[in-house]
Amino acid sequence: MRNSIQALSDELRRLKEAGVKTLPVSEASVKALAAAVRRRAGASAPAAPAPAIRPARVAAAKASPAPEPAAAEPKASLPPPPAFELPAGDKPSRWAALGDRVRGDPTCLAHVRPGKKIVLGVGNLDAKIMFVGEAPGADEEIQGEPFVGAAGQLLNRMIAGMGLSRGDVYIGNIMNWRPELPLGPGGTQVGNRPPTPEEMAYCLPYLRAQIDIVSPALLVALGATAAQGLLGAGTFKALGEIRGQWREFQGRPLMITYHPSYILRNQSNRSKRVIWEDFLKVMERAGLAISGKQRGYFLEK
Ligand code: URA
Repeated sequence: MRNSIQALSDELRRLKEAGVKTLPVSEASVKALAAAVRRRAGASAPAAPAPAIRPARVAAAKASPAPEPAAAEPKASLPPPPAFELPAGDKPSRWAALGDRVRGDPTCLAHVRPGKKIVLGVGNLDAKIMFVGEAPGADEEIQGEPFVGAAGQLLNRMIAGMGLSRGDVYIGNIMNWRPELPLGPGGTQVGNRPPTPEEMAYCLPYLRAQIDIVSPALLVALGATAAQGLLGAGTFKALGEIRGQWREFQGRPLMITYHPSYILRNQSNRSKRVIWEDFLKVMERAGLAISGKQRGYFLEK
């Protein structure tokens, strides 16, 4: 029990550092946790008062009694990242073989909840530009396609601003499954968490294979987590340090920019302009024509 509590506490600390502020916890789980903490406190220091655990959103749990959420126990560590070779052939047949490989991967399958889908990249297999996001969210794991929710709609508009359409580019994620959180009172996952470095390392060979197949002229990392997944954890402390800069991944230029969800949270022209300037750099490097109007997007206050 001690190890479970320690693991839970480590995971909560990690989530907090990653910016997760609330988690749905049922009343039953709170009671079980409080009892475990009391047992632990009693075993090590009988006189010490047990720490209080306050339920977040217990009211919701009371209002709609639901199946007991999945245990918050972190999963056992992942196996080593997959090593595989794709069959020779044209791009569509290699991409289809990769899709079969990923959708049949027991580790990916073990992390996808019943009725939800493993998510592989989509788009033009001859794309010059490949966008790389972090991980599927609620909409993506339902549809089995990256960037189809609110952030995806915005990414589509940004791609349109470049004079392209979603079908002209390739869009992938580091992760092939939605990083799990304990289920909420309704029996569904509420919110997202960033993938761990271990999770990203596991899925990275699948992204590398997509880069090999598509062979884009350049890559765009969307957000700090994607950038860390590609460049390695600890490469930078804050995205601002490397945003707008060209790096390299798998022998290709890699532009680091904000995740579209940053713009969803910061709707000012100033924020939009910052990310748009990175997109202009991408357009220039990809040899796309840039009109005066495009150069001036989001300059007005
Ligand atoms: N955010 C991502 O990073 N990827 C998605 O597919 C959706 C949202």
